[in-house]
Parts: sequence; C-alpha cells; structure tokens
Amino acid sequence: MTQQTTVYLADYRPYSHPLDRVELTFRLAPQATRVVARLHFRPDPARSPGADLRLDGEGLRLIRLALDGTPLDCQPDDTGLTLPAALLPADPFVLETEVEIAPVGNTALEGLYMSNGMYCTQCEAEGFRKITYYPDRPDVMARFHVRIESDLPVLLSNGNPAGQGPGWAEWDDPWPKPAYLFALVAGELVALPDHFLTTSGREVALNIWVRAGDESRCAYAMDALKRSMRWDEQVYGREYDLDVFNIVAVDDFNMGAMENKGLNIFNSKLVLASPQTATDTDYERIEAVIAHEYFHNWTGNRITCRDWFQLCLKEGLTVFRDQQFSGDMRSHAVKRIEDVQALRARQFREDQGPLAHPVRPDSFVEINNFYTATVYEKGAEVIGMLKRLVGDAEYARALDLYFARHDGEAATIEDWLKVFEDATGRDLGQFKRWYTEAGTPRLTVQEEWKDGIYSLTLEQHLPPTPGQPVKAPKVIPVAVGLLNPNGDEVQPTTVLELTETRQSFRFEGLASRPVASILRGFSAPVVLDRAVSAAERAFLLAHDTDPFNRWEAGRALAKEVLADLAAGAPTVGPDWLEAMVRLVQDDSLDPAFRALALRLPGEDDMAATLAAAGKQPDPAALHTARRRMAAALAGALAPALPGLMEATQITGAFSPDAVQAGKRALHNACLGLLSLRDGGAAAEAAFAAATNMTDSLAALAALLEIGRGQPQLDAFEARWRGDRLVMDKWFMVQVLHAAPDQTARTVERLTARADFDWKNPNRFRSVIGALSANHAGFHYQDGASYRLLADWLLRLDPKNPQTAARMSTAFETWRRYDSGRQGLIRAELARILATSGLSRDLAEMATRMAG
Ligand code: PHE
Ligand code: ZN
Repeated sequence: MTQQTTVYLADYRPYSHPLDRVELTFRLAPQATRVVARLHFRPDPARSPGADLRLDGEGLRLIRLALDGTPLDCQPDDTGLTLPAALLPADPFVLETEVEIAPVGNTALEGLYMSNGMYCTQCEAEGFRKITYYPDRPDVMARFHVRIESDLPVLLSNGNPAGQGPGWAEWDDPWPKPAYLFALVAGELVALPDHFLTTSGREVALNIWVRAGDESRCAYAMDALKRSMRWDEQVYGREYDLDVFNIVAVDDFNMGAMENKGLNIFNSKLVLASPQTATDTDYERIEAVIAHEYFHNWTGNRITCRDWFQLCLKEGLTVFRDQQFSGDMRSHAVKRIEDVQALRARQFREDQGPLAHPVRPDSFVEINNFYTATVYEKGAEVIGMLKRLVGDAEYARALDLYFARHDGEAATIEDWLKVFEDATGRDLGQFKRWYTEAGTPRLTVQEEWKDGIYSLTLEQHLPPTPGQPVKAPKVIPVAVGLLNPNGDEVQPTTVLELTETRQSFRFEGLASRPVASILRGFSAPVVLDRAVSAAERAFLLAHDTDPFNRWEAGRALAKEVLADLAAGAPTVGPDWLEAMVRLVQDDSLDPAFRALALRLPGEDDMAATLAAAGKQPDPAALHTARRRMAAALAGALAPALPGLMEATQITGAFSPDAVQAGKRALHNACLGLLSLRDGGAAAEAAFAAATNMTDSLAALAALLEIGRGQPQLDAFEARWRGDRLVMDKWFMVQVLHAAPDQTARTVERLTARADFDWKNPNRFRSVIGALSANHAGFHYQDGASYRLLADWLLRLDPKNPQTAARMSTAFETWRRYDSGRQGLIRAELARILATSGLSRDLAEMATRMAG
C-alpha cells in the first residue's frame, strides 16, 4: 500500500526562507508545457540560520535550475528539491527553474489540466507543486507576475492584466498570496461582460467566461455576483481590491468552485443556468456558491490560513457568510431549515461515525480528505454560536478588528478567537473546545413546574469519537422561548448559556405551566434528546413563533410516525396527519416553508436517528414504512390537493426568485402526493406541459416513484442528449428513484452506456453518488450495491483519487446496520485496502472507515 505519512499540527514550523516575488512563464502545450519560475528569495538570518531550502514538487521534469543565473546541479526526489544551505547566498537571490509537465494526461484534475480543450488549474490544497518547484504551503505569501504563451485566444491569470499581444498575455497580482490561490486558464472562451462600481469609486470589470453557446446561461450568476459584492460592502464593509474579477466555468472539476484571487474557477453546473435547464435548487446553489467564492476574497485570500489544519478559519467563516447572504436574499427561516437539514444529513452522519474529526483537526494523511462537512458546515455553526453568545454588535466589532489586525497575514484559530476576546472581553477558553473536539453533543432536558416557577435542567452528554474518548463540557447557547397553553408567547427567545455538564435555569412570574420551545433557530449543533408528547409537538407546530422550531416539531412528529411504522405499527396515527392538513392550508405560511414541512424524513436520516438511539435500522422496513406514510399523507390531503395545486400554479414569466421557487416547491410536493393516488395521470400531464426544468424533473421523479415514466425518460433524453449538465440529471433521477431491488441493476445499465463518461466527476457523481443516496437500494440485502460501489471506486482511484476518496464515504455508516450488512461492507473495505497501488486519498479513507 501507499505510504501513509501523518502530518501533525504540533509540528508546524515557519518556512525557512521568506519569498517576496514570483515570476512565472507558461509555454502551453498539451503534452509538454514548459513552466519557468523565478523565485525572489530574501534570506532572513534571524529566521532559520543555516537551513537548507526545500521546495515541493511532484511529477515535474526538471529541465534547468539556476541560482542568480548560475546553473546548479541538484537532483530532485519524488516530492521535491532540496538546495543545501552551503549553496545559498546571504543576500537576496533569485532561484530559476524550468520544468516540463503534461496537462493532457492529468485526470486527477489537480495542478494544470485540460478540460474540453481548455487549460485550467486547481491548486488548493497542494496542487501548485504539480506545476512548479515551490514552497507549497499557505503561509508563504508572495506577489505573482505571470506570462502565458499560447495561440489560444483567451489567456487568464490572477490579478490585473499587464499587457497582451499575439500569442501572449501577462498578468500582475499586487496582493501577496499563497500558491494555492494561483490560477491560469487558456482556451477558446467567450465572456458575459459586466461591471461594478465599488463604494469608494473603483470601477471593476466583471467577466464570466464560458464555451461559445453558453453565454446566454450566465445572467443569473452575474447578477448573484453583483449582489454579493454589494452585500459584502454593506454588511461587512469589505470592498473588492482589483480592477477585474473573472469567473470561468469548466466541465471537469472535482469540487463546486475555487476562490483563486481575481480568477474564480467554477464547476460549470454552478454557473450555467436557464429556466429550461436549471432547477430552482440549482439557482439557489449558484447564488450561494458565487457568493461563497466571492466572499473568500477577504475571508481566505486577504486573510489566509497559516497551515491546512486551520482550514475552517476560511471555510467555516465563509460558509457562515454565504448563509447570511442567502438568508438576506431569500428567507431566513427557510434557509435555516435547509441548512440544518443539510448539516444533519452530512455532518452529524460524519460526526457519529469512524470519520469523525474536530472542526480543526490535529493530524491528517491527505489534506484533500478534510474538505468535509465538519470543517465547512460545523465550522459555520461554531461561528453562528459565537455570534449568538457575544451578540450582533460585538460580532461586527470583532470582525472589524479581525480584518484590521490580520489583513495580509496567514492566521490561526487562536488568532481568530483572540480577536473576539480582545473585542468583547470574553474568555473563550472553553468555547475553543468546539474547534478541538469532535462529536455531536446530546442535550437532555428536565422540566419542573412548582409554585409558579418553571425550571429547565439541561444536561450535556459528549459521545466518544476516534482518538477522543473523554471530553470536557462545552459552552452551549440554548435559545429558549415559552408559550402559554393558549398559544401566546410568555417568554420571548432568550439564550441560556450551558457551560457545565448539568445546569438549571428558572423562569418566574408565570401564570400557568408553559410549553417550552427549546433550541430555537437550532442555536447549537447538538442533538436534543427530549421525549415530548405528540400533542405537545402538534401544539408547537401550530403556535411556535420560532419558524425553525415550528418546522422541527413537525419533523419530530413525522420521525416518530416513521419509526413506529418501521417497527410494525399497523397505521399512521391522526396527530401528524391532522397537523399536516392544517399546515398545508394555512395561507399565512410561506409556501416554501409548507413544502419543507410536507417533505417526509429521509431514510438515511431516519436510520441515523434510530442508530443514535441505540436501535438497529432495517433499510427495507424503513423504505416500506416511508412509502406507507406517503400514501397515508396523500390520502389525508386528497381533498385539499386540487385546490392547493391550483393556488400554487404559476402564471406569467418564470423567475428563479424565492417566491416563485417556493410556490413551485409546494405545487410539486402536491403533485408527488397526487400521483400516489391517480396512477400518474397528473404527473404525465405536468411533464408534457412543463416549461422549466424544476417542473419537468419533479414530474419525472413523481412518475419514477410509482414505477412509471419510461416514455418521459425517453423524451427527456431525446431533447437533452447534447447537454452534459441536463443529462447528469437524467442519469441521477433514475438511480435516486429506482426500487431497492432494481437499484444496482439500474446503475449497471446506466454505466454501460457510451455517454457514461466516468472520468467526468459530475457524471460519476450523478450515477455512483446517487447509488449511495438511494438508501434502500444501496443497502439492499444482497450487497450488490456495495460491490458495485467498491468496483467503481477502485476503477476511478488511479485516475482521480480525490473524487474516489470522497465517494467512498458512502461506507462510513456501516456500523449502524445488522451483522449481515456489516460483514458485506467490511469485506468491500478490506478488498479496497488489499488493492495494490491505492492512492493515499482512498487508502486513508478506507483505513479510517474500517478501523
Ligand atoms: N476552497 C474551495 C471552496 O470552498 C473548495 C475547494 C477545495 C475547491 C479544494 C477545490 C479544491 O470554496
Ligand atoms: Zn470555501
């Protein structure tokens, strides 16, 4: 197996040789690109006297090496190049290297690679070392000047344009940056141009670069970019700092997008949108990711990470900022519910399994494996808690101090917390545990009502996680409100600070025993373990003033129904059904909210909930139970569905805004329910009449769910055959909605097609990712899906280790299930681990999951 060297946070040392300036020349050629690098070093005798100079480099053919013009004779090793201290001058010097690389064979999509004839780069986290010899670490920040030589018409890099002519272009980036923010793009591209005037009057040229023909699908992304730029000025006081801002869409990309300075590179599915090709969810994600990458300009680029252990410093904060932005653009209530749903689905799952790690890990084998829901989403939750604890005004002051103090630096979580301590006078020693300890705390609640005093006793339980068996209590902000039995709020939201293992809080002056609404707005990323009667949940669903907890009450009710059905209950009880009938027809509620409340808990979510409560989930029983639950809901709502669908029918032009999207979501939720009763007639009509992708895909899904839809699938394929992004949806919807005993077979059929281009990460995810997202199909008892996933991971790994490792997390939940399934998954993990030549990425993941 590949060697697994572990890197430790505790081993951090500053880099030995300060680097000021970098000049790069690229002579582009698919098989043999030449990269000439001139690195201007400025020795600092105080820093590391007598140290050798170590440069990272992987897969490079060294052509030439010279120091201040004198050729040097040093042999590189597999991971870099060392210049002995004895060779290095005491005064500033220039190290020049020339290397050759082959972008065309680069299927890992890291470093310089080609996608559809276009050159592009991906350097985060450690891809720059595949381009040239360099100190490839985020705390080395230098100014870059780049020259690109190529006959391609569009040649882009970071910073401002610094001249161009036939066959060349130069770029100059005045802001010191780490190498992971370097980017280069060259190709036959066309731009959607626009411009932005910053508050202080700087005119910025904006461009979104795409392949010819796609310009018409860039308008929404451009609009989202301008709104993001304005928002960051207004809310965080942050202005853009270059003359140009370029975004490029590429089809082959491992992740969502990348915040390279002045030259963001995006997975094309997060840029391109038209009503006919993109769903409302796509639009919402495009808006969020455009904002996210733009916001990195301050939180990530101007202030970067000292080392990769500090990844959450930029990612947690930037996710938090993009969530705030989306809430401001759309609905805070709906956004919060969606974010919590995603957190539970991905981060809680991670936190409760073998891959659990702290928001700031203290060791890793492959850093690419730590771009996780914990670092991103829990990292954002931790910032939300900090804001809740210190208050909005203090949060704003702390952020101003953060920008003032650390602009231009590579910072740490300690720096971040110190800023908050200095700005607010608070001691954050205990709070820091949120960064250093893994695991989802569980909160239990005891209530007491005596002599007109209501007391709440909260207790925190901290489950063991890999390498962290015992933990000290955390600071947990618990937002609480109290309602009178008549539904009036008698205690508006107040934040209780739980700092000890067990603590009581008293509320006095109440006329009657209140109903408590606890953890409002999901004020901390914890599991609330609390037995509440169905009647009380229904009461909260009807009366809570906190929209999140209103939704949560309905969700908890639904989960109880689902668990009971899966455990053999003969029918669905009336509480939940009656509550849903009332809620759905309550026109004072946002349709988007109602659509969310109608959505049944997912099977994986339910399996996690059962496992956390010490019960063993049965995937087949859960699947059947969920179908029965949907049928019961469809029955209870039957009289209301036609009227609701009528009321949510959109007339007039399509808009991707939150209001229309909410109506469509409710409309299509109703369509899904109706099709459980009408044999698919309404969905067939809806598919035929659909004028946008949201409606087409919803109708198609409704049909597949009831075992129909083949003619519609064929029609969809005939229409969209030539469109990669839309065809990804066609692949995915079939796998997601395949019956459990047909899932593996569906995947086998789809992967045998000529257009299953598995080296394209989007296409791979649309089928293999969907395989593991179909819970009952993935966990079908014969183990065929497990085998299929392992086969595909092993096939992809040599080509693209990063994506293979990411997709392997489908196996992380194996301990939840019965011994038969456990045995089957363990056998697949063992088979993966026994494979020779495994990448470091996949080897690390399989080892941790099997462990
Ligand atoms: N830094 C990117 C983001 O979150 C994610 C990314 C990581 C992209 C690594 C590519 C490679 O904005
Ligand atoms: Zn990010």
